[in-house]
Amino acid sequence: MRAATRGVRAESRWYKARISPGAPAVLAKKANKTRTLPIYVLNGPTLNLLGKREPEVYGTTTLADIAKMVTARAKELGFPVVFRQSNHEGDLIDWIIEARAKGSGVILNGGAFSHTSIAIHDALRALDKPIIEVHLSNPFAREAFRRHSHVSSVASGVIVGLKAEGYLLAVEAMTKLARPAP
Ligand code: DQA
Repeated sequence: MRAATRGVRAESRWYKARISPGAPAVLAKKANKTRTLPIYVLNGPTLNLLGKREPEVYGTTTLADIAKMVTARAKELGFPVVFRQSNHEGDLIDWIIEARAKGSGVILNGGAFSHTSIAIHDALRALDKPIIEVHLSNPFAREAFRRHSHVSSVASGVIVGLKAEGYLLAVEAMTKLARPAP
């Protein structure tokens, strides 16, 4: 894995049923089935510079701070989190595909790839799980080239302009989308 993806990687472990060594296999199977899959929180290019990069636009909170906040809030709501960042489009695509099998949904701040990447759009289309698009800034109030996102058309919801708070709102919404009311 590339160094860029390691810095802010904060994968929390998901629930593993504690089963005594002697417990019947059937119980183990059942516990495994009811395991809550993690919410994937994926971040695109240059978001590793949060806190230092244009703080007047993106705020002073670092991505590591966001990872901690998001993981803690999700934990309170009963969900583990896989939190990752990459400057490479292919990494994001691989992780979206990974989430098809291993995630309960994807929260994505694709950074500039949101505006350019049909490949990310296609991977998201194939996800078949809830998707929430997040942007720290409000792209609609910025340059014209930020006003179109290839993510929005496949997202269940979009949260923009609320800086780090947007990630927390996304987690709260995702826990409802990923776990439909009984
Ligand atoms: C961003 C908005 C994008 O337009 C920009 O390229 C980013 C950050 C945001 O979070 O506001 O990298 O996704």
